[in-house]
Amino acid sequence: MRKEKGALRLLILFMALAVLCESRLVKVPAGPLVRVEGQSVSIRCDVSDYEGPREQDFEWNLILDSETSVPLISTFDQTYTDPSMKDRVNSGDVSVKKLADDAVELTIQKVRASDSTIYRCSTPSTDSSVKGNYFADVELKVIGDSLKVTPAISQQTVSEGESVNLQCNITRAYTAHTSLSVTWSFRKGTSLEELLTFGPGDVLKVGKAFAQRYADGELIVGLSGGGSYGLILKGVKPQDQGVYVCTGREWTRQPGGGKGWQSILERSEEIGNVLVTPLAQSLVVSVEKNVTLRVEDTLNLTCSVAAHGLLSLGMEVTWLVKGLSSSDNQQVLLHVGRDGQVLSGSELVSMSRIQPGTFRLLLPKVQPSDSGLYSCQVKCWLPQGSGGWYQAAEKTSDPIQVLVTQLEPDFKVGLRAPKIPQFTDDPTELLCEVSNLLNMPDGSLGVTWSYAILPEDASRSVTTIASIDHLGVMVPGEMYRQQLGDGNIAVTRTDPSTFKMQLLRTQDKDMGLYSCSVAAWTRGRQGEWNKAKEIKSKPVEVRWSSKTPVLSVAADQVREASTGGSTFEMSCKVTAQNIQNPSYSVLIRFEETAGGKSRKVVSLSADSILQLEEGVVPSHADSVALEKTGPLEYRFRLNSAQVSDRGFYYCDVTAWTRDQSNTWRSGVSAESNKIQLDFTDTGPVFNVSIYSDSSQVKPGDTVKMKCFMSVHGATSNTGEVAYDIEWFQSPSHAMENGAVPLISMDHWGVVKKSRGNEGTHCSIQRTDRDTYVLNLYNVQDRDMGSYYCTAKLWHFSPDTRLWKEGQTLTSALVFLSINLPLWDSVKNPVLYGLGAALVVGLLSIVLGLIISRCCFSRNLMHTPRSKLMDLEMD
Ligand SMILES: *[C@@H]1O[C@H](CO)[C@@H](O)[C@H](O)[C@H]1NC(C)=O
Ligand SMILES: *[C@@H]1O[C@H](CO)[C@@H](O)[C@H](O)[C@H]1NC(C)=O
Ligand SMILES: *[C@@H]1O[C@H](CO)[C@@H](O)[C@H](O)[C@H]1NC(C)=O
Ligand SMILES: *[C@@H]1O[C@H](CO)[C@@H](O)[C@H](O)[C@H]1NC(C)=O
Repeated sequence: MRKEKGALRLLILFMALAVLCESRLVKVPAGPLVRVEGQSVSIRCDVSDYEGPREQDFEWNLILDSETSVPLISTFDQTYTDPSMKDRVNSGDVSVKKLADDAVELTIQKVRASDSTIYRCSTPSTDSSVKGNYFADVELKVIGDSLKVTPAISQQTVSEGESVNLQCNITRAYTAHTSLSVTWSFRKGTSLEELLTFGPGDVLKVGKAFAQRYADGELIVGLSGGGSYGLILKGVKPQDQGVYVCTGREWTRQPGGGKGWQSILERSEEIGNVLVTPLAQSLVVSVEKNVTLRVEDTLNLTCSVAAHGLLSLGMEVTWLVKGLSSSDNQQVLLHVGRDGQVLSGSELVSMSRIQPGTFRLLLPKVQPSDSGLYSCQVKCWLPQGSGGWYQAAEKTSDPIQVLVTQLEPDFKVGLRAPKIPQFTDDPTELLCEVSNLLNMPDGSLGVTWSYAILPEDASRSVTTIASIDHLGVMVPGEMYRQQLGDGNIAVTRTDPSTFKMQLLRTQDKDMGLYSCSVAAWTRGRQGEWNKAKEIKSKPVEVRWSSKTPVLSVAADQVREASTGGSTFEMSCKVTAQNIQNPSYSVLIRFEETAGGKSRKVVSLSADSILQLEEGVVPSHADSVALEKTGPLEYRFRLNSAQVSDRGFYYCDVTAWTRDQSNTWRSGVSAESNKIQLDFTDTGPVFNVSIYSDSSQVKPGDTVKMKCFMSVHGATSNTGEVAYDIEWFQSPSHAMENGAVPLISMDHWGVVKKSRGNEGTHCSIQRTDRDTYVLNLYNVQDRDMGSYYCTAKLWHFSPDTRLWKEGQTLTSALVFLSINLPLWDSVKNPVLYGLGAALVVGLLSIVLGLIISRCCFSRNLMHTPRSKLMDLEMD
């Protein structure tokens, strides 16, 4: 070192002298020149400011130490070379080449370690005087190839967004006069792209493609000294995947003392193949298992995010919900940005971050409508550049099912029928009863009544009769509007848990299955009504066999009419089935011969009005009777049965029911068995008897004799029989005149007297139908004797409407005897005398009256009163 300093001083001195006095100058590059074994080196030598010929010669010597110099090569002397170096010079390994008259270059093709020494370039003097320097020295250092590159990689597999440390340790044995550089490159396919180079010196150079990332701080060089170089690549992206290579170079300064560096050694090593896992690949988003909640519970869901490099991720979380039915659309429940700000969502929902990658969703007071499929969607953002982010991955969890089960109102529904009709028009009453009502603190019950036609089969249609909704409003069914309006159907709520339906008059078409369906309504979150549960009752069958009404009537004879004129009585007992609240009308019919033409006799209407029918002769009207003798019993009576009444009697009964408008409606009718009214008709049998009022008679008396007829075996009603009556006196007249009647009356009532008897001696008088009185006036002794009457019977046949002659009977005799005392002989003269006196008296009174009226009539005219009488007379 000291030697060098001394030499430097000398050089400066010579140069100063040369400047001053223009002396020879020999120049070689500043050393030391550093070469690696086997490399070539060329050392230039220049001479200037010399005198003499232009072309100069040069000699090279090796200066081993201050005493030893080994001639190496000369430009003019072939023998100059030291024998030790002869081979190399001969082989051309060492050569010298004239570059110009005043410049030469020494070249060693392959330097050897032993070549490390001082090389001196000398010029023999051609000057007039010795001035300046005639040689210059430069040191050559030949070093071994000790450059070592040791790469290391922090991890072979990195996730997107993570960092990778590309470590590169470079060592060498010789450090003086050389500098190192390290270059990180990226081999993608076949091309090698430079990321960054540090050195030689402290220079840092960034590859063009990575300039931005370097600027963004994503490439960080770590220098820990001692040849340890690290490059941290931050925010690795999928495209960063590939092979990374580290290149170490050893540099020496370029000859001539310039600023440039010359690479003398270079070594590259693969740091490794970096595998970048895309975030999308490692990102796992999950929500825990299905959950079943009750109304008003809190939904507590956790979304777990797993990913490599979780901590550096920015996460944007969206909770999605989709209704359970396939037609529902997915909706955003909550959207929270990367920075934790709620971007959208209901304020009822909240989300918190429990720890990195764990998010908890809370939805308090869930309702059934919150049921659905919940999923958590996570968008992962990675930092990019200075403060920027990019979305690296997005994932949505599998949906989980959230079921909000209403703690359902629970109850039982029973349907009873307190009244089921037995007949058409009967009322129906159905009670729909709710029991065991649970879980409905503030709900309301509604009912729907429905009807299904019989027979029950799958295809039967159910009709809604009416509903009572949760607000208690009755809503009529379309087809029952009329009936509900009429009040024939009433749908009511009798107490909070009982609903009633009544059909006031059930018709045949109303037969069927009735059911009630009770719905429980609860209030929703916004106070709206929701139908929480509906339970349908078992149906109740309303059916009655519309049995054919059966009516039967049994007739019984109560009193037999064994003879004509006696009373006939029969009863009719009614038996009815399947007739609702009937009333009966009874008609008595008559047939003369069984199965013959029937005639109506008498009837009793359902309203108990008795009516004689056309088959009764008016004269017979009083003799028939029909009356109700029991709830189901009627009695018919026929007084004084006559021949024409003989025949068959029966009851014709009709059952009547009242219809809706309370008017009678006829139903079935029935006829009873027939009761025969019969008696042997001997024809009218009668006898005649006679009776006299007085048997002791005085002459001049009036005598009455009655002829009685008694008739048996036929009706005694007037008009049905009549007689030809004849009175006889016997034996005197009878004997003489051959039974000439005294007086007779035929059945037309025509009276005939016998000849010689035309006077007012006797008369005949009918006092009733069967009694004929003979009056004998002013009986005399010639009237004494026996009397008798004969009667010829006529009876009227209703069939022929003709009078028919019957038999003639003669009565017993009655004897009329007359007492003839004295008075009888004088009676007549006395009576005549008295009569004449009376006539004279009366005549004189009349004469007197006429005279008095003629004399006093004028005077009377003067009185005002008589005037008035005149006026009256006018
Ligand atoms: C590189 O050098 C550092 C510091 O001297 C050392 O800790 C590390 O182990 C070296 N790495 C290798 C691969 O030699
Ligand atoms: C959750 O519920 C859904 C729908 O019912 C079903 O398909 C799925 O298997 C359930 N998952 C689990 C973990 O029980
Ligand atoms: C949610 O559930 C977790 C456990 O799964 C529990 O630790 C936490 O307290 C729950 N949060 C609420 C508000 O109930
Ligand atoms: C005639 O009738 C009366 C009274 O009815 C009766 O007493 C009498 O015996 C009857 N005589 C005859 C002959 O039938």
